[in-house]
Amino acid sequence: MRCLNSIIVRRYPTSHSYSMLSGNYYSRALLISHGPIIQKQTCLPKVFQRGKSKSTKKISEIPQGLLAPLPPLEPPAPPGEPDYPTTIQQARNNMRKFPHCVLLTRVGGFYEMYFEAAEEYGPLLGLKVAQKRTSAGSIAMAGFPFTALDRFLKVLVQDHGKFVAVSEEYPNPEKGGLLFDRKITRVVTPGTLIDENFMDPGESHYLLAVTTGSGTESEKEVGLAWLDLSTGDFFTQGTTIGGVRADVARIGPREVVLLGSEYSGARESGLEEILRREQYFITIHSVDMRVVLREVKGWKDMIETKINKATVREMRGVEVQAGNVLLDYTQTRLPGMAMRLQPPVRRTMTDAMIIDSSTMRGLEITQTSRERSRRGALLNIIKKTTTQSGSRLLTNWIKSPITSITAIEHRLNLVETFKNDTYLKQDIESLLKRTHDSQRLLQRMSLARGGARDLVGLAHTIQITQKILERLNSEELTHAASVEQLTGDVDVPLKLAKRILNSIDEEGLLQHLRLRESEEEMAAALAEADEAIAGADYLDPAAADATTTTSSSTSKKTRIGSKVGRRMLSEKDTERAEAWIMQKSASETLESLHNKLDDLDQKRVDLETELTKRIGCAQSLTLRWTPRVGHICHVKGRDVDLDHKAIAGATRVSASKSTLSLQLPEWTELGIRIDGVRTQIRTEEQVVLQGLRADVMKSLSTLRTNASVLDRIDIACSFATLAREQNHVRPLLNLGVSHKIVGGRHSTVEAGLQGQGRTFTPNNCFVGDRERVWVITGPNMAGKSTFLRQNALISILAQVGSFVPAEVAEIGMVDRIFSRVGSADNLFKDQSTFMVEMLETAEILKYATPRSFVIMDEVGRGTTPKDGLAVAYACLHHLYHINQCRVLFATHFHDLTNLAKSFESVGCYCTDVTEDGEAFAFDHRVRPGVNRNSHALKVARLAGLSYLYLYYMPPNLPPKWSIRCYRVVPFLPFIPSFHHFSAGAEMHMLTGWCTIRDPRWGY
Ligand SMILES: Nc1ncnc2c1ncn2[C@@H]1O[C@H](COP(=O)(O)OP(=O)(O)OP(=O)(O)O)[C@@H](O)[C@H]1O
Ligand SMILES: [Mg+2]
Repeated sequence: MRCLNSIIVRRYPTSHSYSMLSGNYYSRALLISHGPIIQKQTCLPKVFQRGKSKSTKKISEIPQGLLAPLPPLEPPAPPGEPDYPTTIQQARNNMRKFPHCVLLTRVGGFYEMYFEAAEEYGPLLGLKVAQKRTSAGSIAMAGFPFTALDRFLKVLVQDHGKFVAVSEEYPNPEKGGLLFDRKITRVVTPGTLIDENFMDPGESHYLLAVTTGSGTESEKEVGLAWLDLSTGDFFTQGTTIGGVRADVARIGPREVVLLGSEYSGARESGLEEILRREQYFITIHSVDMRVVLREVKGWKDMIETKINKATVREMRGVEVQAGNVLLDYTQTRLPGMAMRLQPPVRRTMTDAMIIDSSTMRGLEITQTSRERSRRGALLNIIKKTTTQSGSRLLTNWIKSPITSITAIEHRLNLVETFKNDTYLKQDIESLLKRTHDSQRLLQRMSLARGGARDLVGLAHTIQITQKILERLNSEELTHAASVEQLTGDVDVPLKLAKRILNSIDEEGLLQHLRLRESEEEMAAALAEADEAIAGADYLDPAAADATTTTSSSTSKKTRIGSKVGRRMLSEKDTERAEAWIMQKSASETLESLHNKLDDLDQKRVDLETELTKRIGCAQSLTLRWTPRVGHICHVKGRDVDLDHKAIAGATRVSASKSTLSLQLPEWTELGIRIDGVRTQIRTEEQVVLQGLRADVMKSLSTLRTNASVLDRIDIACSFATLAREQNHVRPLLNLGVSHKIVGGRHSTVEAGLQGQGRTFTPNNCFVGDRERVWVITGPNMAGKSTFLRQNALISILAQVGSFVPAEVAEIGMVDRIFSRVGSADNLFKDQSTFMVEMLETAEILKYATPRSFVIMDEVGRGTTPKDGLAVAYACLHHLYHINQCRVLFATHFHDLTNLAKSFESVGCYCTDVTEDGEAFAFDHRVRPGVNRNSHALKVARLAGLSYLYLYYMPPNLPPKWSIRCYRVVPFLPFIPSFHHFSAGAEMHMLTGWCTIRDPRWGY
């Protein structure tokens, strides 16, 4: 029998495993006892740890025999790398494991970056990069208070497109060693944001995976799968290489995931090139082929309810593969986070009107093409939604109008219902205002991040949903059937709401949140103070985490103590000022614990009263707890001089001129009991909270359905408001291919003009019936482009389910809308302005069908007139004879109208300028005919070009030119000083304009 007096166990800095000191690093999976070991309580072997951490273990605590399999080893530090303190070494290893990420390591109240990451990103984030002294030498470090995480994530992820790996600290359950262990909990990328404050609540944050399948060229199969982690929405769609540009534009993903090149045909098929050209944020993700080929049933752990069998049957192989890549990528970015997504909704290529990215840009649907701002875009003008989630849905709708007449008619019926009944609309809107964003609340809940506040928000939303239903049922509605169809699926879990509201103490919760806020502020202040103290001699976080330390530096120890002490202080302070978040009646245990606490509190009051009397009516006596000395009796002022010996067992622990603190075993014992019960209450509150969360999870899909119904109601109200405010009319939709608009307007141009006190001239458009193509000529600035766009937008609005800006609108359903407007170049991608235009034009000619609606604005400009005309004619010919779709074709090539004369169904229309002497005005009315006058010089003069023109004008100009070259320029003091103008200058001081006429020009 051998007595093993002491075993030296080495704890490796980067792992949680032990090995015999003499053993090999890699042989630590087996620890075999050599013969029986005497387990004597008295025989306490010392267990030494390497470095500063040291603790004692009983033999019985050391694992015997075969050990359970351990997690994979962290890679050993490469040879020659110094022996860093544990925290730093952990960070070093994580940096090696996530080389493409910026690593943020939580250390107490800070997130820190080390080594080259600190040097590279510290300045980018405006942080001071300090040199931190460690036992292995100085290393660069930069950090910020944990409360500022969101701010820095925004800069790194959203503004600079970086990936950020967040390493959080967790209490280490093992005795001895570090107080905290650190794990990577998230890799934050542009597509994997969950509920960060900087996320725009009015927009979806889609993460999209794209895979390729069989087929060749533009018919090659493509699978799309996308999800929004903030709401749990999950979609799939099959498409082709030819259609992928438009489909991805409609989704508008924040990040696109492509399979690692070893499996995907992304590069060969040109998919990657297409996506890169559109400047999406692309991530290449390598996945095991077995994962890529998994079946849909492999998704069940991440989906909240069963996936519809029909959906699974219809899903194409590439879609499933895209889904597999998407889910695998999400899991690797959120390790350990249990995800509950909504079952995938399958979209098909024919469900929606296809609007590709250049059309989306050209029509300025979500943002303006020049400034890329939302102001001035169609969405901004039409958005009257009340809730954030309604606004998100509207954004998705406007990018993806539908093609089912029945569905559109239902949407229009709802709009009409609310438009006809303003009081109903107002009531519903004010109820909607009081709802919470339940899509996001539910997703937070399903990711185990939702707290009591989220539950309360959800409960109120449930109650309001009920009120909305009641209000809708309270009177005769214009289209009761459509309302019924929408709300038929709503099942309001009122009992759940009641249970939540009966359990959570809203007032207490509010107080609790306030306390937490101030605690966070305090923690941030402390963290900042720590940084200030640290300065040159920065506090070693590894040492701060240690329970015991062998460090010789006493001053360091003191600082560690003070840091930990302050951490505890903040915890204890909160506890003292505890606000309970649950009602006492939320559970039986909670009720009995609160009763117990009330009893103990009463005992404390009694003790206080008794002590006050015992030491001579010391009115200032209070029973307290302080972090430094624990439970004390505290007196102040005049009472300081009282004889504390009157209390048996009281010992003086500190005293000053104005205060005296006594320790009293009676109070210490009572105080500990009170603290114990408080802790139990807190634990029980969490149990109740978990129970409520679990209840919510049971109703997850019902609640999500309800939330989406509320969003649709919100949009219907929004369209109704818009229709009333902007005088919109209900469109009549049919399956034909004609587009008949009487008195059509352009919503955004009209809004802009109204701002200047001007009015918009409405125009008619009858294209697709007798005349399939309209060729529109006319002066610059006379409204051709506006006319083209307004008609495209009217079609989009109608198919979204909105009333439209016109007097009468009769629209044949459109499958794809194409616009070739504006000019842009993509020099980076080796594409000149003309080349971009030609690429876009070629795409239109390739894909437009007889159901499509094409607007072509000045195709062929930007090159020589002859070549330009040839290009324009070729396009017109192709659109007319091959595509046979509705076309509005604006051009300055007037000869085109001659060339197109032989086309039977081409109509020529034009805009005009009305002149009155020198004055002229643009007549934005579109009339039949051809206008061969561009009036370009008038426009150039209006733009202020004539001054430069005159300035550089050669002296012997033909008389025709000189007559035209008078100008109206803004009044500027220096103008008369130009000698060749001064003779004829007339200044209109009142208007601030001057007219300059040169006598040499003869008028
Ligand atoms: N129907 C209208 N009613 C009132 N103002 C209009 C109308 N159409 C256009 N405008 C105004 O005229 C401006 C120029 O219109 P637009 O760009 O459509 O002209 P255009 O004929 O396409 O000119 P260009 O040939 O130079 O491209 C618009 O920005 C708008 O302010
Ligand atoms: Mg134009």
